[in-house]
Amino acid sequence: MIKKVSVIGAGTMGNGIAHVFAQNNFEVNLIDVNAPQLEKAIQTISKNLDRQIAKGTISENVKKQSLANISTFTSIKEGAQDADIVVEAASENIDLKLKIFKEIDEAAPVSTILASNTSSISITKIAAVTKRAEKVIGMHFMNPVPVMKLVEVVKTIATDPAVYEEMVAFGAKLGKTPVRAQDSTGFIVNRLLVPYLLDAIRALEEGVGSIEDIDNSMKLGCGHPMGPLTLLDFVGLDTTYYISQIMFDEFKERRFAAPPLLKRMVLAGWNGRKSGRGFYDYADPQNPKAMKF
Ligand SMILES: NC(=O)c1ccc[n+]([C@@H]2O[C@H](COP(=O)([O-])OP(=O)(O)OC[C@H]3O[C@@H](n4cnc5c(N)ncnc54)[C@H](O)[C@@H]3O)[C@@H](O)[C@H]2O)c1
Repeated sequence: MIKKVSVIGAGTMGNGIAHVFAQNNFEVNLIDVNAPQLEKAIQTISKNLDRQIAKGTISENVKKQSLANISTFTSIKEGAQDADIVVEAASENIDLKLKIFKEIDEAAPVSTILASNTSSISITKIAAVTKRAEKVIGMHFMNPVPVMKLVEVVKTIATDPAVYEEMVAFGAKLGKTPVRAQDSTGFIVNRLLVPYLLDAIRALEEGVGSIEDIDNSMKLGCGHPMGPLTLLDFVGLDTTYYISQIMFDEFKERRFAAPPLLKRMVLAGWNGRKSGRGFYDYADPQNPKAMKF
């Protein structure tokens, strides 16, 4: 029976994944190399639980219990040693993920299922650095994790079908709708979403429209909940840049290539909402102002 889950990486996705597990009564070990990031993650989870209380979807007691379910660690060795499942949500970088999976494989019990929340890195490649490829899957949650209903559950040719079915059922137990995807770069969601987001940046580069007009076009013209440039700031420009490089490397198609402006913004450290600046300036987070380039 699954009782304890280790989540590696306490950034945008890691804090949301830890939140959802903790709220569903699992014990969570949240691990990040960066100790201040762990503190920030707990604050974010607390704030997001407060939002749920304000909406009337959970009680104060659920908040208290959820926070009590989470312990924080800066070492994988300590934080993964007693996990039934490990979900990795560290930065989207192949070398980093391969190093982390070797470490998890050594630290976690042999029965532990290992999942990656990667958006674009091959699960087969990740599984190959472990001694348990049959227990390695993709579990791709959507941002913000406590709100979004989807989880893509990804299997490789080496995944044990019983492990896969257990994880599809586990996704449903978390209150998510699991969809089944093969280990093809970008899976289903990013295969469709990434070219759209990159095209929005190309439209801006080519002067087709302003930041606000591109966003309003897709919001008001197509009924999207937010425009593509706002969504890019939310996802993280560094994360999108890494994803596009991996997808371009796989498919060699222009639609997956990073536009120069995206690269320049990442070089400048303008990574979107999490760094205070992207296509919008978040000095006043309630009232973002479009950047002028
Ligand atoms: N941002 C999104 O919208 C989104 C959506 C779905 C999936 N993802 C995927 O989730 C993963 C995480 O993305 P994110 O947006 O949360 O990134 P992020 O930059 O917000 O957070 C990454 C975290 O990983 C930590 N980290 C780096 N090296 C580590 C290590 N060796 N051990 C432990 N922690 C380490 C960093 O300190 C940071 O806190 C990526 O694989 C990304 O592709 C992102």
